Amino acid sequence: MTAVGIDAVEIWTGNLKLDLPGVFAPEKGEDPEKYTKGLGLNASSFPDSYEDIVTMGANAAHRLMERKGLEPDDVGRIDVATESAFDNSKPVSTYIAGCLESVFEGDFHHANKGERKFACIAGTQSLDDAYNWIRAGRNRGRGALVIATDTALYARDDPGEATQGAGAVALYITEDPDLVTLSTEQGYGSADETDFLKPNQQFPSVDGKRSVQVYLARMREALVDYQSVAGEIHLDDVRFVPFHTPFPGMVRKAAMLAYRHIIRDTAVEDELADEIGRQPRPEAFETDEEFREALREYMDGLKETDRYQEWYAETIDPTLTIAREVGNWYTGSVHVARISALKHALEQGEDLSGQKLAVGSYGSGAQAEIHSEVVQDAWKDEIGALNVDEQLEERYELSWDDYEEIHDVHNHNMDVDVESLTTPEGEFVFGGWGRMGEREYEYVE
Ligand code: CAA
Repeated sequence: MTAVGIDAVEIWTGNLKLDLPGVFAPEKGEDPEKYTKGLGLNASSFPDSYEDIVTMGANAAHRLMERKGLEPDDVGRIDVATESAFDNSKPVSTYIAGCLESVFEGDFHHANKGERKFACIAGTQSLDDAYNWIRAGRNRGRGALVIATDTALYARDDPGEATQGAGAVALYITEDPDLVTLSTEQGYGSADETDFLKPNQQFPSVDGKRSVQVYLARMREALVDYQSVAGEIHLDDVRFVPFHTPFPGMVRKAAMLAYRHIIRDTAVEDELADEIGRQPRPEAFETDEEFREALREYMDGLKETDRYQEWYAETIDPTLTIAREVGNWYTGSVHVARISALKHALEQGEDLSGQKLAVGSYGSGAQAEIHSEVVQDAWKDEIGALNVDEQLEERYELSWDDYEEIHDVHNHNMDVDVESLTTPEGEFVFGGWGRMGEREYEYVE
């Protein structure tokens, strides 16, 4: 069976940066440690006035195509995953294809284009669509471009304002990929939930606390479902677990849940029993409340064990390094977590070839998906070619006044026109409005 997976990745961060403990927390009258320790965030990326989901997605894809020496004729499919779309009919992928056609020879007329929507999990669903398209033999030797791009902004003073972000990830999906192959096995946890939605509105309506619980419930279901097709997961078999990361504190909770689930009825649970007892089982309690209380106590103990802390430091923490500096990129977020882990391994001089990743994607509304990936021999070249650190370093630091202004610029209900805070160079920019209300773009050398 031909291996299919991710051949190359690129990211594009919004060009602005909001310092959360330094600028945001003091204005909100909050303790900076809510951000650094609680949510696990140092900063959010923001789009400048000339940036949006099209420019960021096109810039990521442009870099990827240039680096891989790809021409439009090599790409048979362009899918954009986003929950920040500005048009209910014309997909963002057509705008991005238009941008790319302005800088490459040839066109994408032969390419199937679409837009995927299911909150943050749409990025992984587009990856799955590309995988299925190639495995079905419909790709005629071409690869698929998957672009996850979002401006994850919340209404001013919404609690979600603490977890904003903006950026894009481009992924190129092929046969015999250079970076990772994807498993055929997938696990799903999916239910009709009302935790985070945008009913014909730009900024989300969010029940934040509930959204955290729904994330955990659906992820747990996906884990059970994945194990039912792929067999039991063993801790030693999985090198990294990149999760959807709305903020690192969310992943701290998801990792604990996954660990507890995986070690149940294993030698690890037995070995930890002397220290923290065995995991509570529901049948041993008269009420659900008593069971949940016992579970909370067990988790508090588990969290403090050396064994758990070492696993977390090795397997989870490296996936969060970039998220801490950029915030939530919605559809791109789990793909940022994968890059973060592989970049960490490269910097540590670790050889990951043949090692496994378990990838936990999530979208509100709600659905979780777990699949596994195997790292390929050329992974170092792929990850080594990224310029993540430079991009993050070059962002313009927003003052509070800048932040208020730039948030208004991106509010579709406001008509604000201000000078950009940075000067675009070698990138696509928003150039104005066309005669039918369409957005127009240009490439700035
Ligand atoms: N020192 C250390 N920790 C502190 C602290 C301090 N001084 N102050 C607060 N904290 C901790 C809190 O204890 C809490 O941690 P725990 O949950 O582990 O207890 C954490 O910091 C956050 O504090 P609050 O709960 O008080 O923060 P909040 O009221 O501002 O709400 C939020 C946080 C619910 C995540 C909110 O920001 C929000 O609604 N975000 C958007 C929704 C979201 O991201 N949901 C995630 C799941 S849904 C999803 O994943 C899809 C998606 O991308 C949106």
